[in-house]
Amino acid sequence: MAETRVVIVGVSGRMGQALVRVASEFPQVRITGAVASAGSTSLSRDAGVLAGQAPMGIEVTGDLPAALAAADVAIDFSQPYATRANIAACRGARKPLVVGTTGFAADLTEAELDAAAGEIPLLIAPNTSLGVALLTELVRRAGRALPPEFDIEVIEAHHRTKRDAPSGTALALARAAGEARGLAPSEALSATSGGRVGPRRDGEIGFAIVRGGDIVGEHTVLFAGLGEELRLSHRAGDRAIFARGALRAALWLLGRPPGRYGMSDIVHADHALG
Ligand SMILES: NC(=O)c1ccc[n+]([C@@H]2O[C@H](COP(=O)([O-])OP(=O)(O)OC[C@H]3O[C@@H](n4cnc5c(N)ncnc54)[C@H](OP(=O)(O)O)[C@@H]3O)[C@@H](O)[C@H]2O)c1
Repeated sequence: MAETRVVIVGVSGRMGQALVRVASEFPQVRITGAVASAGSTSLSRDAGVLAGQAPMGIEVTGDLPAALAAADVAIDFSQPYATRANIAACRGARKPLVVGTTGFAADLTEAELDAAAGEIPLLIAPNTSLGVALLTELVRRAGRALPPEFDIEVIEAHHRTKRDAPSGTALALARAAGEARGLAPSEALSATSGGRVGPRRDGEIGFAIVRGGDIVGEHTVLFAGLGEELRLSHRAGDRAIFARGALRAALWLLGRPPGRYGMSDIVHADHALG
């Protein structure tokens, strides 16, 4: 089995550590780079020890380009402000990149992402769980199948320290539902993402946001008709699901031609959803 050398960007964070812990479940994966910010308090620490495991002989570094030189693919779970530089580094090194970081829409335009994807395989996944990838497909189908009289709302819950709201996954689910109805995101997504005052506009997709405790991630897309409701839900019980999905995405991305990819490509490829 060919070995795949992986760089983890954001290795000192919750997701970065989860990636280090689940990597041993993938015999073909070898972590060769562990990257944090240039000012990280974790620099020079062993990435295994940082993740609560045995030493793995990989020191945390702030030098992504150097880490990429000895890697086949990178996985980024860092901070939105870092995404631009991380994509640029992967573009410079001609290495495929899985971006799991969310909330960078204000920092990076679609045109910039497309330009990068012209040169490297770029998989952007606000949620790397395979269950959420399938949920997104089911939401698309429901959005197409149900008449516009069914109002669509996205309800999401996360831990108290989450920075962005609505979550990247909630936005992606709302976009999928809106596209299925032929609506542009600017038309469909509720401007009052934090909560609604007054009656809903026709076609609007609203958000309800819950923050508290250590909730890993819950998403429900509600299709509310007159006298009936359809709820499509996913609950993440453990960060490891995102880490496993991200590693699977990285393995899938390797050897693909440059382009924009998402988790739905993996679900389609693996299970012929149609
Ligand atoms: N796609 C998904 O399925 C999914 C799932 C969960 C979370 N997320 C997203 O993934 C991101 C990380 O989440 P988290 O919970 O792991 O956050 P976190 O615990 O705050 O970790 C983020 C880490 O990024 C590091 N970092 C900051 N700037 C960096 C830079 N320039 N280069 C490299 N590393 C840098 C920080 O480390 P230092 O301070 O040590 O540098 C920090 O430890 C967030 O955007 C979150 O919304 C996505």
